[in-house]
Amino acid sequence: MLSFKNPLIIALDVDTMAQAEKLVDQLGPYAGGFKVGMQLYNSVGPEAVRRLREKRVPVFVDLKLHDIPNTVAGAARVLTRHGASILNVHAAGGAAMMAAALNASREEAAREGSKPPLVVAVTVLTSVSQDVFNKEIGITGPIQEQVVKWALLAKEAGLDGVVASPLEITPIREACGQDFVIITPGVRPAGAAANDQQRTMTPGEAAGLGATYLVVGRPVTAAPDPVKALQAILDEINCVHI
Ligand code: C5P
Repeated sequence: MLSFKNPLIIALDVDTMAQAEKLVDQLGPYAGGFKVGMQLYNSVGPEAVRRLREKRVPVFVDLKLHDIPNTVAGAARVLTRHGASILNVHAAGGAAMMAAALNASREEAAREGSKPPLVVAVTVLTSVSQDVFNKEIGITGPIQEQVVKWALLAKEAGLDGVVASPLEITPIREACGQDFVIITPGVRPAGAAANDQQRTMTPGEAAGLGATYLVVGRPVTAAPDPVKALQAILDEINCVHI
């Protein structure tokens, strides 16, 4: 796997490889890496990951795997072969499912003689509000409590870290320690549109609280000048432009 140059990961939520490559060519010199999620992956296929790797770009393959352990293990093996630098599963799939993904990924990397990707667990989506969490998803109690429970479960299953809202960084750090990877979407520069995100913070706040990586999509990719928008975020999190 390729390593991320800095903590800022740009979400390539587009339909075509041409759109993705345009963003990568513009932003690649500055971004820490890129995220291929279900829109681009389901449109272009694994070729999207391969093409970005050919450009020597580290890729977070964000497919949020959630199925029976054997199926998730098979998918994790494939994504490791494609050269993901990070892949993720849903913590709600349970410890056995998370461990199956991790073990399959490590085995595949060892078989290939490559460095294994980070395997992280999605806790509660940053688009979910407290009200929706309790009334629609049907889990009682504060979101933060469940996020910490799932983060501990992910750690016990051997995973490298979690995806969570910046609002949950501090309790996760306290529970899971300094080495645990915390990836935070739901990051919005001051004054930017929240879009469908509910549990947000600014990039400076998220970085200051100790996020390992920040995932940002629309505030950069839909900005009139994406490079300027990205550089403003790097300035805010005190990263030197490359
Ligand atoms: O455009 P925006 O900055 O909202 O993009 C956030 C990205 O992070 C999206 O690609 C979304 O799929 C992803 N994500 C998220 N919340 C999570 C996990 C991933 O918003 N909990």
